[in-house]
Amino acid sequence: MEIIVNDYTKTIKGATVLDHVNLKLHSGVCYGFKGKNGSGKTMLMRAISGLINPSSGYVKIGDKQLGKDLSFPESIGILLENPAFLDNYTGYANLKLLADIQGKIKEKEIKEALSAVGLDPEDKRKYKKYSLGMKQKLGIAAAVMEKPEIVILDEPINAIDEEGVVLVKKIIFEAKNRGAIVIVACHDKEELMELADEIVEISAGKIVEKKEAV
Ligand SMILES: Nc1ncnc2c1ncn2[C@@H]1O[C@H](COP(=O)(O)OP(=O)(O)OP(=O)(O)O)[C@@H](O)[C@H]1O
Ligand SMILES: [Mg+2]
Repeated sequence: MEIIVNDYTKTIKGATVLDHVNLKLHSGVCYGFKGKNGSGKTMLMRAISGLINPSSGYVKIGDKQLGKDLSFPESIGILLENPAFLDNYTGYANLKLLADIQGKIKEKEIKEALSAVGLDPEDKRKYKKYSLGMKQKLGIAAAVMEKPEIVILDEPINAIDEEGVVLVKKIIFEAKNRGAIVIVACHDKEELMELADEIVEISAGKIVEKKEAV
């Protein structure tokens, strides 16, 4: 599978937040989005996820164009800023609710996803009692539990402890190795180099460099 971003421009209230972006993304590769605050990393992730519409240009998922042939990519897991979960449900119950929308996975896969991020599947605490890092881990579990073809993780290791970072890296490698297209943004340069195969540098809504991570 391939994602093609073709001459994608997004203007919001006169401000150009994505500026003629061209990008081709392939299966089995982890792409690291790099750039300053406000450069457009999250916006480009939203564009690829079908969460915003272009002012001009397009995104193709395989041979289907977003906004034309389909509204959202068919198989995608996303962690963007502030994942929304239900306060009065446990982590497991939150994931179960999400999993039941597609009905693709059962209890076993949900529990595996929780364990993979270092959360206890049997934890009876409600989401509102979760720490910041625990919330972030639940967001990552939600993004990957259905083993989607596209995995987008915006700042996945934010607020995550050392042990958790090791687990997140493992999750990203597994997703990549089963053939997913993985996109991550991370402000820690060294961590980004370790996570990503290719670095995509964004500045003021433009892609200024695309190179192998070394
Ligand atoms: N809802 C919005 N309405 C209008 N402009 C927005 C909106 N969200 C973001 N922007 C603008 O879009 C540009 C790109 O923002 P974006 O969130 O993609 O940056 P980023 O690279 O992810 O930054 P950070 O490193 O802080 O996460 C910024 O100029 C920002 O002000
Ligand atoms: Mg961002």
